[in-house]
Formats: sequence, structure tokens, C-alpha cells
Amino acid sequence: METWDAIRARRNVRQYSDRPIAPEDLDRIVEAGRRSPSSMNTQPWDFVLVTGRQQLVELAKVWQYGRHVAGSAATVAVVVPDSEDPGTRESIEYDIGQATTSMMIAAADLGIGSGHSAVRDQDLARTVLGHPSDRRCAVLIAFGYPADRPLVPIKRPKRRPFEEVVHRDTW
Ligand SMILES: Cc1cc2nc3c(=O)[nH]c(=O)nc-3n(C[C@H](O)[C@H](O)[C@H](O)COP(=O)(O)O)c2cc1C
Repeated sequence: METWDAIRARRNVRQYSDRPIAPEDLDRIVEAGRRSPSSMNTQPWDFVLVTGRQQLVELAKVWQYGRHVAGSAATVAVVVPDSEDPGTRESIEYDIGQATTSMMIAAADLGIGSGHSAVRDQDLARTVLGHPSDRRCAVLIAFGYPADRPLVPIKRPKRRPFEEVVHRDTW
């Protein structure tokens, strides 16, 4: 897919077909995250790539709106340092937002859907993922081929109008 098509085709996919994702495609997706920019190149992320069904089913319980994780072909858990400092936390959130989007666009480029899940139950996430106590799981990104229809560029996305969002020269 062309980059512009991948950007326009990405949408939150929460129902996945049984088709597995090829290992090299999964590696490409997390590589897109690894290559993302970050504040002072700190790269505050680690990615735990989960493909085991039982692990996915358990991970899906960390947040009530994360049920789609259970049926994903793979889910990337984004793990970051658990800082108390508001500035550091804010910077990390921005960085992982970028890494998340890169992975989702890389997936869309391959025709693979993706869906975020927040992480409420950190204890459960740690039990499943096994990350150290000075880290937290910031977000889960579920991946899989869409069960409903293939990804194609969306003509009219559900977004605020262009002219309302974009300000030229001044507000
Ligand atoms: C920071 C963030 C957290 C999100 N958390 C969830 C979530 O916990 N569960 C979920 O189903 N969708 C989640 N979403 C997906 C959004 O609801 C979705 O991206 C938005 O409605 C726009 O739809 P689209 O991605 O199809 O364009 C999250 C998105 C972002 C950016």
C-alpha cells in the first residue's frame, strides 16, 4: 500500500479473522515502533509481543474495553518506566503515542488491522507479561486481519471538519 493509502485506511479494528500474521510481518510492525522518534532519543519503550492464545485471553481482562485483545492474532504490550514525575510521564506518553501510530500504520500497510486498549489492572498485566516492578504497561495494541472487511482508504472519516481543525497563520 502507498503510505497515504495506509494512513487513510487505518481504523480501529476490534474483530479479527483466524488468519495468523506472518512472523516477519509482526517483526516489521514492532520495528516500525522501534524506529519512532522520541524526546532526546530516550526510546522509553519496550515491546512485549504476545501471540499465545491463553496469554491473550488473560491480557484482555486488564481493561473493560480491551476485550478485543483476546481474539487478536498478536498483541503488542508497550511497557515504559513507571516515573512519578509529571513531566517525564508526559514526555513518555507523547513518545509512545508516536510509536503506537507508527506500528498501526505499518500494520495497515500490510492490510493488518489494529486496536488500542488502555491498561487498568497493572497487577494482572504484570502477571501475564512479567515485566520488572519499575515498569508499567502503558497500552496494548491488538493486531489481526479484519473479520469484517479489508482495510481500504476511508473516504469520509468520522473526524471534525478540516476547516475547523486547521488554522492558517493564526488561530
Ligand atoms: C490513547 C488511546 C486509547 C484508546 N483506548 C481504547 C480502548 O481502551 N479500547 C478501545 O476499544 N479503543 C481504544 N482506543 C481507540 C479509539 O476509540 C479510536 O481510535 C477512536 O474512536 C477513533 O477511531 P478510529 O481509530 O477507527 O479512527 C484508544 C485510542 C487512543 C488514541
